[in-house]
Amino acid sequence: MTRPETSPSVRLQLGVCDYPEHVPEDRWSAYAQQQRQLGLTYVRIAEFAWGRMEPRSGEYDWAWLDRAVEAYHAAGMRVVLCTPTATPPAWLVRFHPEILPYDAQGRVREFGSRRHYDFASPVYREHSRRITRVMAERYGQHPAVAGWQTDNEFGCHATSRSFGGASAAVFPGWLQQKYGTLEALNEAWGNVFWSMEYTGWDEIRPPHLTVTEPNPSHVLDYARFSSEMIRQFQAEQVAILRELSPGRFITHNFMIFESGFDHYEVARGLDFVTWDNYPTGMLEYFAPPGIREDVKTRYARTGHPDLIAFNHDLYRNLLEGRGALGREGADSPNGFWVMEQQCGQVNWAPYNPLPADGAVQLWTAQAWAHGADVVSYFRWRAATMAQEVMHSGLLRHDETPDRGFAEVQALDLGSFPVGNVPARVALVHDYESLWAYDAQPHNAAATYWQQTVTYYSALRSLGVDVDVISASADLTGYVLVVAPAITLVTAEMASRWTAAAQGGAFLVCGPRTAFRTPGGATWTDGQFGPLSTLVGARLLQYDSLRPGVTQDISGGHTAHTWAESYRLQGAQATHTYQGGPLTGQAAVIRHGNVTVIGASSESLIQDVLRGALQEAQVVTADLPEGVRLSRRAGHTLVQNWTAEPVPWQGRVLPPTSFEVMHDQ
Ligand code: GAL
Repeated sequence: MTRPETSPSVRLQLGVCDYPEHVPEDRWSAYAQQQRQLGLTYVRIAEFAWGRMEPRSGEYDWAWLDRAVEAYHAAGMRVVLCTPTATPPAWLVRFHPEILPYDAQGRVREFGSRRHYDFASPVYREHSRRITRVMAERYGQHPAVAGWQTDNEFGCHATSRSFGGASAAVFPGWLQQKYGTLEALNEAWGNVFWSMEYTGWDEIRPPHLTVTEPNPSHVLDYARFSSEMIRQFQAEQVAILRELSPGRFITHNFMIFESGFDHYEVARGLDFVTWDNYPTGMLEYFAPPGIREDVKTRYARTGHPDLIAFNHDLYRNLLEGRGALGREGADSPNGFWVMEQQCGQVNWAPYNPLPADGAVQLWTAQAWAHGADVVSYFRWRAATMAQEVMHSGLLRHDETPDRGFAEVQALDLGSFPVGNVPARVALVHDYESLWAYDAQPHNAAATYWQQTVTYYSALRSLGVDVDVISASADLTGYVLVVAPAITLVTAEMASRWTAAAQGGAFLVCGPRTAFRTPGGATWTDGQFGPLSTLVGARLLQYDSLRPGVTQDISGGHTAHTWAESYRLQGAQATHTYQGGPLTGQAAVIRHGNVTVIGASSESLIQDVLRGALQEAQVVTADLPEGVRLSRRAGHTLVQNWTAEPVPWQGRVLPPTSFEVMHDQ
């Protein structure tokens, strides 16, 4: 079956990740033609092919890649070419072992898989620029090349931070630039505590292998430093690609719940962003704590809808205002793709089930409804060698179509028009808060992602569309702003939140909001620091609850994990604690349009958010378990993520299914 051509800007496009270097050359044309016949538009290649592009130092072999690109071109595929810097070849490591990264135990991470480099290494940076330049010189204007992906999944396999080598050498200079003097650094970090004051820049090491926990301010600055190294590393590649490949887009494929760097900073300068969506692996491997075992079992073959949707809503909004090509060009009118979409089973989670029948279609439809302009499957043919032989592709090892292939073939792409996601609710997300929160969670079951996703999931269970936005994003147009775990609030953020609330928006904050200063200490006048006037209260107590210990709250709710209470200074308590050490103290407070929820309790969070949405005149729906609604471009996607039929609004939604409805 060959699908009719349609304009890329009209409906969802599909793509695939392919590895011509993994198969004999006599397969290339046939694969490309088969991809086109399946209705795929884009093919992403070469992100791990450095060893074949430059088999020996300075000796390039482009002939094979020329022919591969030609094969796709001849079949009408649009090529996304990658800089291959995720895999420095063996000879480069042999000549320059100083490019290797160090783990948190201080051991060198060796050659033999991928991502074995330190972003801060000046030597590696030079090689990264060199290989980017020669690739861009050769392919930058090739008619088949639609655009570029930089590297592959920054941060994958815990590679955002290196604890030795180049990073350790560059860190003190970065600190010197930031603080000017050691006195300023010692003051900012509070190094008087435990006699941690430094007397020379060279005394400062990465925050690892300390006898007990390192200073959280040190941890926070190391996270900022490492993030900045990634930003610089990519910016160097982007500058070269811009110069030599005009008119082509530049993107990067970000990861599921990656915490190691500030994605907003790193994404700046890209045309649009992409991310890699592995729903079943995500649930098994990346799910924040708090997702219960029975929930993992229930969604084992589809992944959890809210974990996936959260990432879509994050990446759709990563480039605020969007890059120029993203806005105007056909490749991504709405600013985001899924670059790698699971299309069978993965190989890297503790358990790797076959997806449910219909799951590949459900994932594709969900990605579309959350704003993706392109969904590109990983990978074309299952690998027949090395680390990923257990991983599915659209084709099996023996080249016969696998289950995912059939599902992709049966998709009706005409039912997926591109256009805006009409979210009126914003959920604020911030990497600095994430680092500060997770440096001292104060409860083994609490993490930044867990708290954030709990609020997100509550909103999604009420049927509303959500923009996940940065702490510096413009709040104009949102009727409800939810800040689940923004523990690090600057004066600038406080003034924008205040303006939004004064302008009529409702604001709902979670526990630990504005607990930290930007340096990682606490405010000397207590929580809520610069938000105190807006919130009309001060923090009174916080209680870290071990599993099995709970705290009752009025209204029939029960807190687990965390309960904090407030001293009222203008605000009113809408819920109070009952029993236990917090008896009678405020658990939820309201001051004008602003509500703060101090306790970890799913039912409480859902109730408060339902009330706020109704006040903000956003229509809510109490959805059955596993049913989700998403809206885009005048259409509503109804999804059933469960393995059972679910009655909904007078009809029955079949298991693992979706329906696209035209809005009236
Ligand atoms: C991704 C990665 C791919 C492949 C895939 C397997 O994280 O970018 O190269 O390894 O996982 O699921």
